[in-house]
Amino acid sequence: MKTFTLGLKLATDPSWVNIAEMNIEDILVDHAYCEQKATSSTISLIVQFPDKQELVEQLTPIVAEEWHHFELVIAELRKRGFRLGTRRADHYVKALQSITKTGGDRADQLREKLLLSALIEARSCERFRLLWKYLDDQALQEFYYELMVAEAGHYKVFLSLAKIYRSDGSVESRWKELLAQEAEIMNALPPRRDRLH
Ligand SMILES: [Fe+2]
Ligand SMILES: [Fe+2]
Repeated sequence: MKTFTLGLKLATDPSWVNIAEMNIEDILVDHAYCEQKATSSTISLIVQFPDKQELVEQLTPIVAEEWHHFELVIAELRKRGFRLGTRRADHYVKALQSITKTGGDRADQLREKLLLSALIEARSCERFRLLWKYLDDQALQEFYYELMVAEAGHYKVFLSLAKIYRSDGSVESRWKELLAQEAEIMNALPPRRDRLH
């Protein structure tokens, strides 16, 4: 269990999967947009920090992977006769953005952005794990297993890049703070029938 929670302090109640499965169209649409946002925010990191060679090297393939995930979710929607639909408000990511520090120097900003991405990857991974384990639809179970593994890999990359570019020890303490705050956010935002987060 520990290895799948990736440090997260509050586990999702698995009964969320039963509610999610009854609203699978909403969940898949929300999921598609999560992949789009992951793609867009990873591109933004590359564009904002082109001087960080390791970051550019490691994030470029992740952009392609996230967009491929988007394509895969679109295919799952199509198989079920659903369409993409409009983008929904993302209360989880908005709440996370409100706890990230906006001041400091460029290195601080980079640390905050990388840790924010690592947190979202960790929580997505945790939710995908539940979908893999508890969905009745076997094809979707396999789909979410693959995605869980991919997002766990992304989580590791974001966290390791944060450590590469901020080697003053501030990453560990900030990561602990963010994990505690993320748990508070999760506590205030119970899992929804129509959202991945
Ligand atoms: Fe993804
Ligand atoms: Fe990811």
